[in-house]
Amino acid sequence: MLRMGRASATAGVLRFVRAFALCVATACLLLAAGMPSPVAAQDPSKLSLQYYSKTCPNVEHVVRTEMECAVRADTRNAALMLRLHFHDCFVQGCDGSVLLDDTATMIGEKQAEQNVNSLKGFDLVDKIKEKLEAECPGTVSCADLLAIAARDAVVLVGGPYWDVPVGRLDSKKASLDLANSDIPTAQQGLLTLIAKFWEKGLDATDMVALVGSHTIGFARCENFRDRIYGDFEMTSKYNPSSEAYLSKLKEVCPRDGGDDNISAMDSHTSDVFDNAYFETLIKGEGLLNSDQAMWSSIAGYSTSDTVNKYWADPEAFFKQFSDSMVKMGNITNPAGGEVRKTCRFVNT
Ligand code: HEM
Repeated sequence: MLRMGRASATAGVLRFVRAFALCVATACLLLAAGMPSPVAAQDPSKLSLQYYSKTCPNVEHVVRTEMECAVRADTRNAALMLRLHFHDCFVQGCDGSVLLDDTATMIGEKQAEQNVNSLKGFDLVDKIKEKLEAECPGTVSCADLLAIAARDAVVLVGGPYWDVPVGRLDSKKASLDLANSDIPTAQQGLLTLIAKFWEKGLDATDMVALVGSHTIGFARCENFRDRIYGDFEMTSKYNPSSEAYLSKLKEVCPRDGGDDNISAMDSHTSDVFDNAYFETLIKGEGLLNSDQAMWSSIAGYSTSDTVNKYWADPEAFFKQFSDSMVKMGNITNPAGGEVRKTCRFVNT
């Protein structure tokens, strides 16, 4: 018979509990792809549609007017604002942290691998913020500005409208480390990407719909060189016309150099928010490895059906995209914050 003292029995129980917890955590990660819906990491209940109804009733009008002007001047501005909101929400929650400039004591998120030389639109944010400060000083957060501007951006290039709950606060600090670890990259595979969205309370359906944002905007050669020359080489497996597309991409993006040359992620209609991006994936013409990963399967889990659905049914895409944008916008920073006077610096 096995005999144990009380101390070693307790240690045994603790070991068991620890092992069990680790097992559950690992299983959660691995099963993330197959589970019905993740638990939201933060409580979004403080956001509301009426938040500024007394303090800044014109907030939506002010942002919309500036966005109209900017998108009329250059439709790329729509893509810039949409991506800024995404990169804001994935780091500490939607708290304007991405907008903070470096200071003598802090290196901000603008220096993160996925942001440096790539994330743009900060001048436009400054311009909108100036107008908001003139309309209602010290009232509207930069995080809310981004959430509203991202929605307007989508609408202005033909996408769906959704109501944007507001009341976010701006963080007092940025996190370069979290920006480097939490923002997905073009080189990551389907399971990693699912896990990264899962950590933010977004499931695989949210992910596919949100990545549908790549129906507008451009990527730099640096981010798709692997796709045209490397291990993930684009082939004519799915569609013979891909060969012509591939040669065009090789002209834009040589093996060496040309890192900042750009190509549209939706080669058909990069100025319009529509569902054509999903067709490019079905043809095997996703520009980024991560784009093409959306039309793939791994470990018995596949997101291809969702891609097929959004190509067949644009309304279903628009509906899910709107819902998922609200969900992403609800990721708040539990640390709270302030309403910054200028989006680039915390208040003094
Ligand atoms: C799997 C997740 C995602 C990955 C790996 C990813 C990666 C990228 C990369 C590498 C670029 C090109 C950047 C450059 O070359 O300068 C890009 C552009 C863009 N991304 Fe994503 N992205 C993802 C999801 C999202 C989401 C969820 C949104 C919005 C909700 C979004 C919006 C955009 C937009 C609008 C652009 C174009 C920006 C421009 O024209 O400058 N992306 N993304």
